[in-house]
Amino acid sequence: MINNNTWTANVLTLFPEMFPGSLSYSLTGKALKNNLWNLKTYDLRKFANGKRKKVDGPSAGGGAGQILKADVLDKAVGHIIESNSNYNRNSWPIVALSPRGKVFSQTEALHFSKCKGITFICGRYEGIDERFLKFHNIPELSLGDFILSGGELAAQVLIDSIVRLIPGVLGNYKSLEEESFVNYLLEYPQYTSPKEWKNLCIPEELLSGHHQKIKNWRLNKSEEITKKRRPDLWERHKSSRNH
Ligand SMILES: C[S@@+](CC[C@H](N)C(=O)[O-])C[C@H]1O[C@@H](n2cnc3c(N)ncnc32)[C@H](O)[C@@H]1O
Repeated sequence: MINNNTWTANVLTLFPEMFPGSLSYSLTGKALKNNLWNLKTYDLRKFANGKRKKVDGPSAGGGAGQILKADVLDKAVGHIIESNSNYNRNSWPIVALSPRGKVFSQTEALHFSKCKGITFICGRYEGIDERFLKFHNIPELSLGDFILSGGELAAQVLIDSIVRLIPGVLGNYKSLEEESFVNYLLEYPQYTSPKEWKNLCIPEELLSGHHQKIKNWRLNKSEEITKKRRPDLWERHKSSRNH
């Protein structure tokens, strides 16, 4: 049963029918069905004024594309805050999705998984009226240095990464402890049966059954891969070891 403590994602969007989308499959989908988390979508058009329900306008100063209106977004956010008694932005952050934002990482995923929930604002067209973001002091988060057509897919990606950290969602919670980015290391290589495939063998250490040997091999490989592929992460790992 969903209760006040169920982690909840609110999503403000022009396309609520895009949800739950990918989130209704596999792990996140099962957890959604089992009420381990909750999803509420809000159709931005419902907060627009006038007969034509206009949610966007041309960019001030000219140029291509439309901008989502501040008053519409303001009404939608106001509605969410008013309909959740004691809405507290520290425990239930409001975040806009934007390529200009801070690039999302596992650190944020972990932080948000410990909150009561999150409210995502999905941009469309050329983006969101800056005054709305400024007035409500809303931080922006990005998926990376590329442009999507809208924030909906980004919201789904972020929700997926957060929800799998909620206790009870992953069958084997222990697997989180060795995933990439824990301790700023990338994961070691993984193998499964058969022992030999196209003349390529599973490393001996992994078949030894010797717990410590396996642990050492995995740590060495993690370090080797991180050093080679992500020197930035490797530096962070080294300084975290020194503290
Ligand atoms: C076409 S984009 C707008 C791009 C904007 N004019 C710019 O150049 O920064 C429309 C919406 O998609 C979402 N979006 C696009 N790329 C994104 C990214 N890398 N991360 C998160 N959201 C993104 C945002 O919500 C954005 O408002």
